[in-house]
Amino acid sequence: MRQSGITQGAGPKTFRVKSFGCQMNMYDGERMAELLAARGMSPTPEGEEAELVVLNTCHIRERSAEKVYSEIGRLRKAGGAHPPMVAVAGCVAQAEGEEIFARAPSVGVVVGPQSYHRLPELVARAAAGERAADTDMPADAKFAALPKRRRSAPSAFLTVQEGCDKFCTYCVVPYTRGAEISRPFSALMDEAERLVDAGAREVTLLGQNVNAWTGEDRRGRAIGLDGLIAALDSLPQLHRIRYTTSHPNDVTEGLIAAHGEVGKLMPYLHLPVQSGSNRVLKAMNRSHDGESYLLLIERFRAVRPDIAISGDFIVGFPGESDAEFEETLRLVDAVGYAQAYSFKYSPRPGTPAAQMQGQIAPEVMDERLQRLQAALGRHSLAFNQASVGRRCTVLVERAGRRPGQWLGKSPWLQSVYFSGPGAAAVRIGDMVEVELAAAGPNSLEGRVLELVPA
Ligand code: SAH
Ligand code: SF4
Ligand code: F3S
Repeated sequence: MRQSGITQGAGPKTFRVKSFGCQMNMYDGERMAELLAARGMSPTPEGEEAELVVLNTCHIRERSAEKVYSEIGRLRKAGGAHPPMVAVAGCVAQAEGEEIFARAPSVGVVVGPQSYHRLPELVARAAAGERAADTDMPADAKFAALPKRRRSAPSAFLTVQEGCDKFCTYCVVPYTRGAEISRPFSALMDEAERLVDAGAREVTLLGQNVNAWTGEDRRGRAIGLDGLIAALDSLPQLHRIRYTTSHPNDVTEGLIAAHGEVGKLMPYLHLPVQSGSNRVLKAMNRSHDGESYLLLIERFRAVRPDIAISGDFIVGFPGESDAEFEETLRLVDAVGYAQAYSFKYSPRPGTPAAQMQGQIAPEVMDERLQRLQAALGRHSLAFNQASVGRRCTVLVERAGRRPGQWLGKSPWLQSVYFSGPGAAAVRIGDMVEVELAAAGPNSLEGRVLELVPA
């Protein structure tokens, strides 16, 4: 038991939570901040030093995991004689557990993604000089223990499902987040209603495999994600529903149909494919192939022709040949993605792919990533350009960089900067009718037409 730089018993009074990685971590980060605030601690304003820094970490690729240690070093140096207490939360905490204390002695708390409701206790123990760690994975105790939410941005996240049973051979998530669990329907409806009361106009349902969500509605009938979406559709002040990330194998007829039937469900689908080569997909244990993926996209487009498709890609998976990489480029052209995330394969400790023959040289990965990103960039630009001249509703999220300018999202999740004579009356959280006037690969510019009555 060592001192953590904090006076015994005093405990930190101010905090900052810094989240890395996916949107589920963003959600968790917000919830941890609420937990600490509920115990009387204050969030530090930008630019001020906090007595407790929570690093909510990501383990998905080597570089994400290494960021933690450089951040810990930076905090220790910047704090001089009074470094902040550091709590490591998230997926690196789960993967490395108490080993973190050995590698970074200035860390006081290690807390996994399934036990962060115990963060305040752990902080108190660390303040008393203990090294406090908790990486248990109880089924769903966490959500019940979290405080109720009182304030919300116009666009809010709501975690409905956690964990993954898919075991793609490259991926750490099944190990860091545990088995798939679905939060109960009634808890989700309560949280959604509270978010809407607190100002949310859009809710994004989150899960590592969000479309694997299952539950029972109020009458005890078994429902899937489409049933949850239909129930949310009836909340009067909620204007938009989104969900992410979906897995091709958990797509149901009902979910596809929802895109044609539920007015509030936005025309956007994030459906990672990873590769266009069936041999590589098999080695990745993805259990779908290029053809079945394309068929799914066609079926979504049949009910919602304007749906924006987004995906994730990995280049340089062990054994990927030039010809197999070309198959990925062909699939990209066949789908015409509106948006996408692409990564170089990163071997992760404990995953089967890290042991595979045929690891790809870094230069080859670089070259493939560049070519893939150039192709994806062409498609997003084309998608955005095709929107020019259209009118659409934008949910206003914040002020833009220029005076009188606002930034919001189109139904297709494009960032839209807009201004114009009516802009003075606009407020954050408004739904505004905008005419799209110009497009770049990452955003659009538009002109206010009118406010949409709430
Ligand atoms: N559950 C989601 C995504 C989880 S991680 C899904 O299956 O779609 C987000 C993305 O990170 C993955 O889709 C994949 O493209 C990428 N990724 C995961 N592990 C990786 C690794 N070891 N190296 C490079 N990229 C990886
Ligand atoms: Fe990882 Fe695959 Fe699970 Fe996605 S589906 S979280 S890529 S194991
Ligand atoms: Fe990263 Fe964990 Fe999310 S590894 S991507 S923070 S589930």
